[in-house]
This record gives sequence, structure tokens and C-alpha cells, in this order.
Amino acid sequence: MRYSDVTPKEIYLNRRRFLTAALALPIPAAAATLNAGKTAFNAGGEKITSQKIVTTYNNFYEFGTGKDEPAQNAPKWKPISPWTVRIEGEVAQPKTLDVDQILKLAPLQERIYRHRCVEGWSIVVPWIGFPLSALLKQVQPTGKAKFVAFESVYDPNIMLSPRKAGIQFPYVEGLRLDEAMHPLALLTVGMYGETLLNQNGAPIRLVIPWKYGFKSIKSVVRIRLLEKQPPTTWSTSWPAAYGFYSNVNPDHEHPRFSQRDEERLGEGTLLKPKVIPTRMFNGYGDQVAKLYAGMNLDRNY
Ligand code: MTE
Repeated sequence: MRYSDVTPKEIYLNRRRFLTAALALPIPAAAATLNAGKTAFNAGGEKITSQKIVTTYNNFYEFGTGKDEPAQNAPKWKPISPWTVRIEGEVAQPKTLDVDQILKLAPLQERIYRHRCVEGWSIVVPWIGFPLSALLKQVQPTGKAKFVAFESVYDPNIMLSPRKAGIQFPYVEGLRLDEAMHPLALLTVGMYGETLLNQNGAPIRLVIPWKYGFKSIKSVVRIRLLEKQPPTTWSTSWPAAYGFYSNVNPDHEHPRFSQRDEERLGEGTLLKPKVIPTRMFNGYGDQVAKLYAGMNLDRNY
């Protein structure tokens, strides 16, 4: 079965229209160069998606719900400088760190990851960052810390209202502490050899490659270590469709978007999109499956 067969036609055609519109935008203004040395991780050696698609076809509801809107609206936003991230909760050493301090915590690496959106498309992106664990170790989580909650910036002067976006702001996400400490969980500051553009979550975001894209929260300002599982934006807005774990799983269907296969953006043609089967844990099972040993992943979706 093809993706176009299982996707409601209206959604499919809308998506194509947005992609076409996004590709018609000018190439975004270059961000600052960011040197990360040689590529530290490249699963599968798949073809990297063009920078133009990755910077113009986005989900960032604070800047609009259409795929082309973040690239149009986010450049008008000036992230506060110096940007700080507050890390607190069940920790021995709560800290507020600015981006320069964070950049000194560990060497930057380039990591080429597949990124699979729950809506049924995927991209391959050369991210730049370092393991989130290096940041979390700084604050010394206590024995009570079992979960990590993340919060995005929210500036009502330039961002959509929750009513217009259809979801609550600030955008929040969460991970179990052992997931957050996994070496693949990337604290990300750049892509394609440059700092992040606003629409991709400047100046600092997460990338969790074995989970659906919405877990990769953008423009993070606050991190809390917690004893209990925190609420997350999409599971609060539609609990039957979005769970806390949100591991990529072709065996757990979403009520609206098929998870069986995915369209790799920028490769096929308009008439013949490149559709490939979706893999458990987005193909990162060898690295991460042990985190979920003994769990029913259909129930814990
Ligand atoms: N973070 C915030 N704050 N707001 C969002 O709307 N969208 C998520 C995630 N992070 C989102 C967010 C979704 S649905 C996806 S697929 C990815 O960001 C998209 O990342 P990209 O635009 O860099 O490809």
C-alpha cells in the first residue's frame, strides 16, 4: 500500500501544496557557521535531505500551523540574547546556563539522523550538538528524578495564541530520565554546518531520533527533573492519538495518519513520491530497544 492510498486525500493534497509553496520561497538567510569536526554518527548512510526543504517545510505551531509559515514568520522573531536555559527540580545543583556556557560543556558533533514526523513524512538531517546527558550531568539529578520535562519559549507578542494554534503554549515535552541520558538523545544547536535558523528551533532544541518529530522540542528555555511523568503538549491535546512515549512504531496506528510507511521528502517526484516502509524505533532499535525491555509498546504508545 502506498502512503497516498492510506492518507485522506484532502490531507495528502494539502501537504503537497504546502511543500510546493515552501519550495518556492527564497533560500533562507544564512545562519552563522558552526564547526563540528567530522561526522560522529550516520545511521544507514542515507541521502541527506536538502537544506532548503529542512528549513522551509516545518512544524513550529508558535509561528503558524501551515508547513511554510514558520519559515515566513520565525525570521521576524529575535530570540532573547543571551538566551538562558534554567535546569531545576530534583537536582543537587540547579543552574541557569546561557548558550555560550552550554557550548563549553562538550565538543560539538555532527550527527546525521533520520527524522520521522507522525504526519507521514521523513527527512535526513546533519544536526550539530552533543548528548543531552552532558547537560543533565551538570546539575546532578537526585535519586528521586525519574523524568525530564522540557519547555519552549513563548512570546505572545510575536507567536500565535493557543486558540489560533489549537494547542497549549508554552509547548512542553518530556522523556523518562534513562531515555534523556541515552547517547542518541541530542542537545542540538545547529544543522548543515550552521547555527539553527529560528524556524528549526534556535538557539537550542532537542532531537530524539527514535521518536516522532514532535518529541524534538524547539527553542528550549526550561528543563525540570521530576519524580512523576510530566504532561506533554500533544498528548494533552489528543490523548487517544498521542502518548507520552511516541516511539516510532509501524505496529501502532494513529487515528489520522498511517504509520506503516513514510514519504522521504525531496526524493521522489510530485507524481511519484518516494515512499519507504517505516521502521520500529525509526531504525534505531539496535541502540534503544533495551530501554523498553518488557514493556507493551502498543499500550505505552
Ligand atoms: N517545538 C515547538 N516548540 N513547537 C512545535 O510546534 N513541532 C514539533 C517539533 N518541535 C514543534 C516543536 C514537530 S510536530 C516536529 S515534526 C518537529 O519539531 C519539526 O522539526 P523541524 O521543523 O526542524 O523539521
